[in-house]
Amino acid sequence: MSIREEIDNILSKDPAARSWLEVVLCYPGFHALMIHRLANQLWRWRLFTPGRFLSHLSRIFTGIEIHPGATIGRRFFIDHGMGVVIGETTIVGEDVVLYQGVTLGAGSAARQGRESRGHKRHPTLGNGVVVGSNAEIQGDIKIGDHVMVASGSIVLKDVPPNSVVVGVPGRVIYHEGKRVKDDVPDLEAEAIKTLKVRLLKLEKLISELTVRVEATTAAEVGRVSTEAPVDGNLEQSGAGMEAVDVFLHGAGI
Ligand SMILES: CC(C)(COP(=O)(O)OP(=O)(O)OC[C@H]1O[C@@H](n2cnc3c(N)ncnc32)[C@H](O)[C@@H]1OP(=O)(O)O)[C@@H](O)C(=O)NCCC(=O)NCCS
Repeated sequence: MSIREEIDNILSKDPAARSWLEVVLCYPGFHALMIHRLANQLWRWRLFTPGRFLSHLSRIFTGIEIHPGATIGRRFFIDHGMGVVIGETTIVGEDVVLYQGVTLGAGSAARQGRESRGHKRHPTLGNGVVVGSNAEIQGDIKIGDHVMVASGSIVLKDVPPNSVVVGVPGRVIYHEGKRVKDDVPDLEAEAIKTLKVRLLKLEKLISELTVRVEATTAAEVGRVSTEAPVDGNLEQSGAGMEAVDVFLHGAGI
């Protein structure tokens, strides 16, 4: 590892970084990486508790938690950093960027306790991966080279190289620069859309029935014919649905 290379990498990737001194003094991602290199060395010497303790001090100091057992490639940049968690068996390639709040976690294996100790249970990130703020990548999955994970996504499955992943659960929307047909429906939006359609049908039915009942009642008292109009109050159907329409439009369905 070259410290100079790590500093130059941050200077090249972050437009806010203006000098090497600024990077050395003000970049928690840089501090966390430097301390991790030491903690990881302790871990590989089987000095597990000193390694963990160093990593813990780093967490207090930087707000970034990198388990000393994690394997981190060259030119690794954590921007801002607060809230980043990187688990023990994570493997990170070269030229990877993480933003604040990212979790590279164990997924469901975390609940298995000591049974999963010693097993690979965290993700493997290829080279050139970018993970947006507050995204989560969970479990022993592979994120291919040059994948971009949108902020707020939760990725639970392997992702092929050169893809863009968005959403919860994460799905590939671009692969090799081309838009991928998004087969995964937005279940919440679909449910609201179905309810809206059924509600409109019910309103129409009630409106028709109301008109018929009124017409029948009027006929019984001899005021009008029994032929009932069927348009009723249909112009009011769907009133108050604007918020639903805005939601559905935002969901793209
Ligand atoms: C996801 C990302 C990697 C993709 O970058 P990109 O390839 O340059 O393309 P765009 O930003 O134009 O986004 C591509 C598509 O992903 C969608 N997208 C971007 N971010 C998204 C998110 N968080 N959730 C859902 N969709 C998202 C865009 O709407 C766009 O969709 P479209 O093509 O249908 O219009 C980029 O948005 C990114 O880096 N996000 C993280 C940034 C971040 O965390 N910044 C913190 C700075 S403090």
